[in-house]
Amino acid sequence: TNAALTPPQVAKAKGSTPLVCLTAYTTPMARIVDAHCDVVLVGDSVGMVLHGLPSTLGVTLDMMILHGRAVRRGVERALMVVDMPFGSYEESPQQAFRNAARVMAETGCAAVKLEGGQSMSETIRFLTSRGIPVMAHIGLTPQSVNAFGGYAVQGRGEDGDRVTRDAVAVADAGAFAVVLEKVPEALARSITQRIAIPTIGIGASPACDGQILVVDDMLGAFTDFHPKFVKRYAEFGALADKAVEAYAADVRARKFPASEHVFGNAPKERPA
Ligand code: KIV
Ligand code: NA
Repeated sequence: TNAALTPPQVAKAKGSTPLVCLTAYTTPMARIVDAHCDVVLVGDSVGMVLHGLPSTLGVTLDMMILHGRAVRRGVERALMVVDMPFGSYEESPQQAFRNAARVMAETGCAAVKLEGGQSMSETIRFLTSRGIPVMAHIGLTPQSVNAFGGYAVQGRGEDGDRVTRDAVAVADAGAFAVVLEKVPEALARSITQRIAIPTIGIGASPACDGQILVVDDMLGAFTDFHPKFVKRYAEFGALADKAVEAYAADVRARKFPASEHVFGNAPKERPA
């Protein structure tokens, strides 16, 4: 069954209804996201969100493939995109092709995402002209956290010209969409008007053609992480803490398991 949204369909959505995108890293979350979204991204944010890494730099191709395979089993109608992790594509277009082809073959995703603008345009052209649809990612690119010296807003003032050149470069190179991360609203609007492919914003204002968030962030999975650009639609972290606290109290008080959770000695005591 492959009635899933395709990269060209996502590209064509520019100017019509906003593209709804979220990350997912597991099959059950992919099913929920797939039911409501246009794009499911297996982000390399998985390293920080699920593996406790301090940044995305330690994420490996094997991690992306493992989570990609899990997500694939939960996606039917959305476009599935997998992030290329740090070190797997920057060296050369050939390295990028080899690893992106492996990601596509082993996960069944329809596209990959990679970070970088002008510096990656040759690589994006190499991949897109050889059957690998590419979602680009510019503005704040977390894999460059050390080069940036942090996670600051990008493209303020005169620096906006650089981000604009990045946007034009990835669009010209054949990317079907571009993630625009943590840039001022005016810049997001001018880039969105300037290029023919959809801009997917994260911390980039409603002027973009679509929005993406890390699903665990919008679910409030972390009690200690509140970036300005995330709206919390739930408080999963607090909910889980309360539930585990109640379980611990029940076990210590011998209130769990209760009689309804216990097996008797007689076979087939409950009809199936
Ligand atoms: O890794 C990720 O989750 C991402 C999105 C937030 C754009 O790159
Ligand atoms: Na990412």
